Amino acid sequence: MYRTISLIFLFVVLSAATLQAQKRIFNETAQQKEKRMAWWVHDRFGMFIHWGLYALPARHEWVKRWERLNDTQYQPYFELFNPDMFDAKAWAKAAKAAGMKYAVLTTKHHEGFCLFDSKYTDYKATNTPAKRDLVKEFVEAFRAEGIKVGFYYSLLDWRHPDFTIDVLHPQQPANEADTAYARLNKGRDMEKYRQYMRNQVTELLTRYGKIDIMWLDFSYPGNKGHGKDHTDWGSVELLKLIRKLQPGIIVDNRLDLGAYEDGEDFLTPEQVKVEELDQFRGKTWETCQTFSGSWGYFRDEDTWKTHKQLLALLIGAVSKGGNLILNVGPTARGVFDARASKALDSVSHWMKYNNKSVYGCTYPPTGFETPANTMVSYNPQTKRLYVHLFEYPGNTLTLPGYKGKIKYAHFLHDNSEIRFKTAESNSNDLVLSLPNKKPGFEVPVIELVLQ
Ligand code: GLC
Repeated sequence: MYRTISLIFLFVVLSAATLQAQKRIFNETAQQKEKRMAWWVHDRFGMFIHWGLYALPARHEWVKRWERLNDTQYQPYFELFNPDMFDAKAWAKAAKAAGMKYAVLTTKHHEGFCLFDSKYTDYKATNTPAKRDLVKEFVEAFRAEGIKVGFYYSLLDWRHPDFTIDVLHPQQPANEADTAYARLNKGRDMEKYRQYMRNQVTELLTRYGKIDIMWLDFSYPGNKGHGKDHTDWGSVELLKLIRKLQPGIIVDNRLDLGAYEDGEDFLTPEQVKVEELDQFRGKTWETCQTFSGSWGYFRDEDTWKTHKQLLALLIGAVSKGGNLILNVGPTARGVFDARASKALDSVSHWMKYNNKSVYGCTYPPTGFETPANTMVSYNPQTKRLYVHLFEYPGNTLTLPGYKGKIKYAHFLHDNSEIRFKTAESNSNDLVLSLPNKKPGFEVPVIELVLQ
């Protein structure tokens, strides 16, 4: 009896879920969507830039929340924001050299400070010693390098007087009682804040020409009524506005619109390990990752990823069918610090000679096993397979079950031939003859021309 009831219950839940999943906001066809997303899926690699007032304390972009700072305590950063060394062209050149094909800048982060000259707030770069619209300079410089332009826009706003105090707000009441929230939120009006967001998003999407990506961040539903979800943001309306103003734009998944089939264009697994990316197979996604443990500039944070770890993230993403957006947190003077520049330069060196295993690539077709200590990507257009050597094997590399499938093999960085023969022990395997000495790349790549 209980079994029957629970089966019925399960059935009702499942059909509700299916019905929900079929809800749509737009009437774009699958082919139209594929076309809209095509450049992004092809390009695979982007630069994230987290820059704001938090670069001055240099203790994480959440410093206002972490240290429960109020507006007065946070004010010195506004008054002293003076990025005297900022040169958007230098940023764009660094991104280009690293092979990054798109860039997403924080036009406003959770602190509420706007890098652009919004007419709906005074809390903006033009009113600091910087005295100019930094978004404009970013857009012009990156576009000039042929890099696609994206805007990150925080849904949270810890400065706006109508944004209600919630579980993540720096002024969250210590006792977390409903009455305490109510007292603090008296007079705050989220409808006014929603209008503020629509106004600013309109500015961002009408003043700077074609914008390729909108990266909205983020929703935290529930939390005993003190989180924020799609109703708080007016997500459907906001997304409709975005797509109306920029029909070709690509939008992330953080608006809490999972109930709609077309409420998001890509998933955003954040700071996950390469192995965890397997679960997204067949979906459209971009993993966002930092060089160290913070998005904004964090002077004393020291867990910087190694060159090899960065390559594992890039190649890992591509070989599992997704994108990587790698973050830089420029300093308060407006430059990438030495650690970030070093990390980018090493990626540049690798990408200059090996980028064919990234652009237009995805996971290998079935029947191509991944040899030990490697990651394999595949370009379905050119029908070439890329074997990335994470532990250089020296002398030989066995390709299990590859017999009869390969026409030719060479290193990608210099097109030098790699000879191969059938393994004696197992007639289905191929054995590549590699030079004893590892080529001058942390992760050398072998390009295999398929039959
Ligand atoms: C987060 C954080 C944030 C960062 C973002 C990038 O959700 O709130 O600081 O901007 O992820 O993915």
